Amino acid sequence: MTLQDLIDLKAKALAEAEGAADASALEAVRIEYLGRKGLLPKVMQALKDVPGEDKPMFGKTVNELKNELTELIRQKQAGFAGSGASGGEGFDLTQPGQWQALGTRHPITQITDRIIRIFQTLGFTVADGPDIETVWNNFDALNTPADHPSRDEQDTFYLDNGDLMRCHTSPVQVRYMMEHPPPVRIISPGRCYRRDTPDATHSANFHQVEGLFVDEQVSLADLKGTLSYFAKELMGPDVKVRFRPHFFPFTEPSVEVDFTCHVCHGKGCRVCKNSGWIEILGAGMVDPNVFQSVGYDPAKVTGFAFGMGIERITMILYGIHDIRNLYENDVRFLSQF
Ligand code: PHE
Repeated sequence: MTLQDLIDLKAKALAEAEGAADASALEAVRIEYLGRKGLLPKVMQALKDVPGEDKPMFGKTVNELKNELTELIRQKQAGFAGSGASGGEGFDLTQPGQWQALGTRHPITQITDRIIRIFQTLGFTVADGPDIETVWNNFDALNTPADHPSRDEQDTFYLDNGDLMRCHTSPVQVRYMMEHPPPVRIISPGRCYRRDTPDATHSANFHQVEGLFVDEQVSLADLKGTLSYFAKELMGPDVKVRFRPHFFPFTEPSVEVDFTCHVCHGKGCRVCKNSGWIEILGAGMVDPNVFQSVGYDPAKVTGFAFGMGIERITMILYGIHDIRNLYENDVRFLSQF
C-alpha cells in the first residue's frame, strides 16, 4: 500500500460515513474501517513495508483517518439519536426525566427577606453599606463614649489601618443620613462581626437587620406601633409585645423589646426560662448627638431606630438549637427549610 492509496482510502472512508443514511449504515461503516477485523488494522500492518522516507507521513495519515472517522461517526450517531428518525435508536419519549437536585435559599436569607418584606409594606427601603467601616461611622457618630466596652479590641475586630469590621449595621444609617436629608425610612440588613467565642448561641460572624425612621414629630408611640405591627406580621396575630427600659449609646430613651414566647405563648416554659417572654429587639429614640454628628438639626427632627439579630430570630422560628448549624452548610440540614 502506497501513501497515495492511504490518502484515497481516507477520503473514501470519510465520504462513506458522511453518506450513511441511518444508524445501521453508519455502524456498518464503523465496522468496515475501525472494527477489529476492519481495514485500519490491516493498514497498520502495511506500515512496515512502506519505504523509509514515507513512513512518518504514512503514520500521520493513518492517525488522522482514525481520529477524523471516529469523530465523524460519533457526531452522526448523536444526530441520529437526537432526531429519532431513520429507524436508529431514537429518542424515547417514555423514558423518565433526569433527576435534578433543587437548591434552597439559606434559612438566614429566607428570614432576612421575610423581615425586609414586612418593613417594605410600611414604606421602608433597604440601605446597604460595607462590612469594613471606619471607627467614626461605627462608634463616634453613634455617640459611643471613648471608653465604651464595645470599642475594646476584645470585642471588635480592628484592621491594621485602624478601620474595623462593623459590629452592627448601624453605621449604614450614619452613611445614609450623611447623604440624604430627612425624612428617612430605611432598614439595613447585613453581616456583622464581633470577637465572640463560638458556642451554641454565639458566632463571630452574624447578621442583623436595623431600621431607622426620621421625620418631624416622630415619637416613641410610632416606635411602639411599628414594632408591634412587625411582631404580629412575623409571629402571628396572637403575639404580645413588651417594651423594657434599656440603654444604648445612640438612643435615648432606649428599650429592649420582648415577644411572648413562641413555644408556650406566654405561660412559661424551658425555652423562655419560665418568663413567658423572649427578647428580640433593641430600639430607641435616636439620640440628638447622633443627629448632630450627621448634620441633622435635632431641634427639627426626631426619629426611632431598632436592631435585631437574624440568627436568633431564625433559630426561634425554626426551633434550631445551635447557631453553628447555620454555618456548617450541611445539605441535609439546609434542605429542610
Ligand atoms: N445596634 C444595636 C446592637 O447592635 C441594636 C440597636 C439598633 C439598638 C438601633 C437600638 C437602636 O445591639
